[in-house]
Amino acid sequence: MSIYLGVNIDHVATLRQARYRTMLGAHNVEPSILQAALEAEAAGAHSITVHLRADRRHIVDEDVYLLRREIGTMMNLEMGNTPEILGIALKVKPHFVCMVPENREEVTTEGGLDVVGQREALRASVSKLEQNGTRVSMFIDPDLDQVRASAEIGARMIELHTGTFANEIGEKRAMEAFRLKAAAELGHSLGLQINAGHGLTTENLPELFIVPHLAELNIGHSIVARSVFVGLRTAILEMLEVIKGYPGK
Ligand code: PXP
Repeated sequence: MSIYLGVNIDHVATLRQARYRTMLGAHNVEPSILQAALEAEAAGAHSITVHLRADRRHIVDEDVYLLRREIGTMMNLEMGNTPEILGIALKVKPHFVCMVPENREEVTTEGGLDVVGQREALRASVSKLEQNGTRVSMFIDPDLDQVRASAEIGARMIELHTGTFANEIGEKRAMEAFRLKAAAELGHSLGLQINAGHGLTTENLPELFIVPHLAELNIGHSIVARSVFVGLRTAILEMLEVIKGYPGK
């Protein structure tokens, strides 16, 4: 079975907010986040991923409710573990939540979540979300202690942070791929579903394919960037074509 692709459409909202931050709901607001999600689904995306940040810099609350109501695939909500966003997640009931670290100043999510250091707070949120019907993932660096802690607090999935892999080249990238492989092997042996994401592109993805047990990739920036030139549907089809090369679990 091939890897599933979750398409992160945050940057469609980034473009919308660049002009219409104060006019959401007006007749001329574009691009439509729902149209982007439906287009992604039409292209073959297996899930739609959005990150509701504390500062609402791209995705806003009404996007999350709208997408949950209207999309036909699954919704993956990325969120920092704060009472405010947890309350929204419990109301929205997305299929999946991916817990991410969140720092207001960062441009995008930098570094994985410290599950080891925030064990009890995360355990409580995982339990609430799971009881509410949402499967929870931890976005972590390929660090074996973080993998063990994720399993121990009751998460069902981990999303391995591929940012370092994507930013390095050559030998250093290959070394990071080996770290990701070891983390995936350990996570799988502990019964976790293994996902990965951050900085993945059609160019670097084949080098990630030494990592076994990959179930789902979450990809946003490179797909939305490519869509400027070829459209969202073609950008996703191109990514799915590369994903087909994954040798299997
Ligand atoms: N997975 C997580 C947890 C993320 O925070 C992000 C970035 O929003 C992604 C995947 C997607 O990363 P990119 O936009 O670089 O493809």
